[in-house]
Amino acid sequence: MSQKIYRVIQWATGTVGSTALKYFIENPMIELVGVYVTNPEKVGKDAGDLSGLPATGVIATSDIEAIIAMDADCVLFAPLNMAATTLDHVCLLLESGKNVISPAGPFLPNKWFPDETAKVEAACRAGGSSYHGCGIHPGFAGDILPLTLTRLMNRIDCIEITEIIDKLRNPMIYTEIMGFGADPVELLANPRRSPETYKYFYSSMAMIVEGLGKEIEKVTVKFEVSKARNDIVHPHGVVKAGMVGGQHYEWTAWVEGAPLVIYHFYWQLGEDLDPLWEEGEARYRIRIKGDPPLECNLMGDEDADGRHPFLGLPWTGLVGCTVVPQVCDAAPGIVSHNDLGVVHPRGLVRRG
Ligand SMILES: NC(=O)c1ccc[n+]([C@@H]2O[C@H](COP(=O)([O-])OP(=O)(O)OC[C@H]3O[C@@H](n4cnc5c(N)ncnc54)[C@H](OP(=O)(O)O)[C@@H]3O)[C@@H](O)[C@H]2O)c1
Repeated sequence: MSQKIYRVIQWATGTVGSTALKYFIENPMIELVGVYVTNPEKVGKDAGDLSGLPATGVIATSDIEAIIAMDADCVLFAPLNMAATTLDHVCLLLESGKNVISPAGPFLPNKWFPDETAKVEAACRAGGSSYHGCGIHPGFAGDILPLTLTRLMNRIDCIEITEIIDKLRNPMIYTEIMGFGADPVELLANPRRSPETYKYFYSSMAMIVEGLGKEIEKVTVKFEVSKARNDIVHPHGVVKAGMVGGQHYEWTAWVEGAPLVIYHFYWQLGEDLDPLWEEGEARYRIRIKGDPPLECNLMGDEDADGRHPFLGLPWTGLVGCTVVPQVCDAAPGIVSHNDLGVVHPRGLVRRG
């Protein structure tokens, strides 16, 4: 196996980006060469300071042109979102010859985003570089993991992938943005997550369906809410009794007239809810109905209190970091799990 050291830039150091930054500093097969930040308080700081690690000599910058001009093999691109201007940055990086791995969707290639797909492909061609979308979901729990599990089946009736997050135990800034605390009737009429959101996950659903030799006919969307039984105090405020304390989004990919792949998202503020669909332990659960039926739960190890933390955000960074060598070594273009095959992470086995 190649012992090549890959020169990497970390773009943005939010929750996902910070996990990646720590990985790149600590992994012996990686040389961190640049860090891009937007936050003025982070500009000029050593990457080690930003990660609680010893100094690295790599200083964080907000100078995009300097980052684009740098010599590097790969950029882990983890900005707030993939607004039009940020997609332009991805393309400039690709055109400069750097490979890009990003969790900031949409997942590509994606038939619902032909313009973005074409733009990124063109930039890859211009720079002789590769682009790979990474993440826990989309990116792992709803595509490569269940497709791998189908190897253990004789017959498949339906595959259900469920994301369960207790947002009380794993507070996120999205609590109010997502409509927790809203009036149930109002939220049902105006879901904060667009009914079109499934399109961002479409290539993940399609990977499973097409990997099984079928085509998606249509995707249907369902949304329901649960109510707080009593006032729920959370880090960003209070959800009053009777208001929205839980949300369930369901997207179903239909094949030959029947549901084949169903994505459930249960986001709950604790368990004092009516109804309580799922106990609040954070996890990704894959159930394959058929012969023999299968269940697989992906969760962080127990904390000291015996409960399981939600690791979706660090995993989103790590699943991008561990594929750096293979994306750098891939032929130019958008590379999906199908192109990468079995990934062999490097530099993980070492003394802590
Ligand atoms: N596929 C998946 O499973 C999955 C899961 C989770 C997240 N994600 C995606 O991963 C990305 C990073 O998520 P996160 O949780 O790390 O987000 P986050 O904690 O909010 O961090 C985003 C970072 O982006 C930078 N930033 C702030 N304002 C910006 C702006 N206007 N334009 C560009 N960048 C800006 C900041 O970097 P500095 O602090 O360095 O200045 C900020 O810390 C998001 O796009 C998210 O949607 C995907």
